[in-house]
Amino acid sequence: MKYPKEYLEEIKTRLKVSTVVSKSVNLKKRGKEFVGLSPFKNEKTPSFTVNDEKEFYHCFATSEHGNIFDFVMKMQNLKFGEAVKYLANLAGMQPYMFTKQDEEREKKWKEYSTIYDMYVDFYHNELLKNEAHFNAREYLKKRFLSSEDVKKFKIGFVEKNANFFAKLKNDFSEETLVESGLFYFDEKNKNYIERFKGRLIFPIKNISSQPIALGGRVIDDIKYLAKYINSPETPFFKKGSNLYNLDCARKLSNKLNNIYLVEGYMDVIGLSKNGIENVVANLGTSLTDRQILTLNQFFDDIIICFDGDESGYKAALRAAESSIRELKPEKHISFLFLPDNEDPDSFVNKNGKDYFIDFTKQSKISIHQFIFTHYKNQTQNNPSSMAIFEKKLRSIAKTIKDDFIKKYVLEFFLQKISELTPYSNIGKKQFYPKRVKSLQSTQKYFNESKSLTAIEIKEFSLLYLIMKNLELFQEHIHLIESIKLFSDENRLIFQTILLKLKTNEKITLDEISIDTQLIDKIYKFASIKHILQNNQNDPNKVFELLEEISRDLKNYDLELRIEELESKFSQDLSETTFNEIRELKKQKNIN
Ligand code: UTP
Ligand code: MN
Repeated sequence: MKYPKEYLEEIKTRLKVSTVVSKSVNLKKRGKEFVGLSPFKNEKTPSFTVNDEKEFYHCFATSEHGNIFDFVMKMQNLKFGEAVKYLANLAGMQPYMFTKQDEEREKKWKEYSTIYDMYVDFYHNELLKNEAHFNAREYLKKRFLSSEDVKKFKIGFVEKNANFFAKLKNDFSEETLVESGLFYFDEKNKNYIERFKGRLIFPIKNISSQPIALGGRVIDDIKYLAKYINSPETPFFKKGSNLYNLDCARKLSNKLNNIYLVEGYMDVIGLSKNGIENVVANLGTSLTDRQILTLNQFFDDIIICFDGDESGYKAALRAAESSIRELKPEKHISFLFLPDNEDPDSFVNKNGKDYFIDFTKQSKISIHQFIFTHYKNQTQNNPSSMAIFEKKLRSIAKTIKDDFIKKYVLEFFLQKISELTPYSNIGKKQFYPKRVKSLQSTQKYFNESKSLTAIEIKEFSLLYLIMKNLELFQEHIHLIESIKLFSDENRLIFQTILLKLKTNEKITLDEISIDTQLIDKIYKFASIKHILQNNQNDPNKVFELLEEISRDLKNYDLELRIEELESKFSQDLSETTFNEIRELKKQKNIN
């Protein structure tokens, strides 16, 4: 059986090649591509490249290339169908169930997408060219849209007495045409009506850029007409699953980490034409978990920016309470509140891109901070109100699916509450359950180690090794003399120790003046300490460990120099630089 193209395309667009490949290959970013050691060949220099934009991998060692399906089939020795299942799961999609209706659905999809293509193209061209639509074009101008913007978003205008139905009815069944959502049957007059007549239309595309629904806006405010209408749900358009402009915005995920989530079509278009193109809209419906998960497949930071009015605020609160469930340690959700009566479109048109971005940096608040502040503002200083407040926050934290984030959000809430209730903490250390108390120290350790780089931790190991074997290294000072350290703080101690060792007097640690805090840090984070414990007095083991550490430090140094030269080479393209790079790479491999 054949998988529908629509389904395979969706998997492909949801998963970057680098995401799939990095599950089994260590990839490093180099320009637009990623490189790594070929998984198909035993090699020492990386010749395996991944290009997310072009959606393929290429192995220069074996000349193999392909897309994510090829990669998974080859790596895991799977049949195509099994690879599809594996990848669909990775993309957060349901496994595909083949049914008898599949062929039927595939046929329907072809018709559906053809109808939408025809409809969108036709009315887009009408808007651009038809003299009669002067008003619509004037309206767009008034809203600062150029014809480039109109083309980019393929906006159209459907005339008041439109009859596209007649054009399609010879090629498609009435049932199919009604199912598209573009037409409905008027029982009274017994004819088919165009749902979007008299409106500007904004095509809503699926993730692979195929139009699957429309939004339509009136151009003159007529009281009895809704400002916007959208296509009804159809077999191929489910409201909670789609996001307006996702197909374009996702392409920026190679360059940008964050995505703006706004309410409306015009907000997306307004930001986009001002140069902020990493933006999608959920189109006035409530935000769903699926939409958050989809955005997280491409971006780590979601910035929710709804209108600066009461309904925007309420929508933001609803979005916060539902999306916090999907929070993951490596992902962030934050909120940006605009001044009264501004929406993203009006705000960016007034102030421009740079101001909008600065404003984001300064004003966005994290999802947990927003939820805390909101409920705190609702709370009065009396026991009942405080109790409800704490219960509410606890119950929100409990909904978070990821256990780690759940722990720390709860910790954050309780910490904030404790600041509001100082008396509860005096002389009553057990106010919080033990579990939460122990979290504070875990979090501290986590925060500290997070701010250390891998190389700093390596250096701690080196210092630890030396400090524990002062006598041995005094005899063999030549082994450590020329080691290069990278953090200023560590280098300073290292030099102090070296100087002392060179005096040839017998020394102990106490005689070397080192900041005790730093010593604590070294003892805490030197990853080597567990290995050393068992081999304390074995000089051979100590030398072996030293060799390992100094090799890593040397390689790090080489990597830095190679990177520097590579960027120089990209500017000067000189042969000398090239040879230098080659030489350094050779040294690195020997190491
Ligand atoms: P807004 O009223 O904020 O619209 O509704 P907007 O995007 O700022 O548009 P302009 O600037 O007035 O042209 C936000 C979104 O809510 C949905 C639409 O998707 C709209 O983009 N909506 C709004 C409806 O579906 N129906 C409506 O009547 C109003
Ligand atoms: Mn608006």
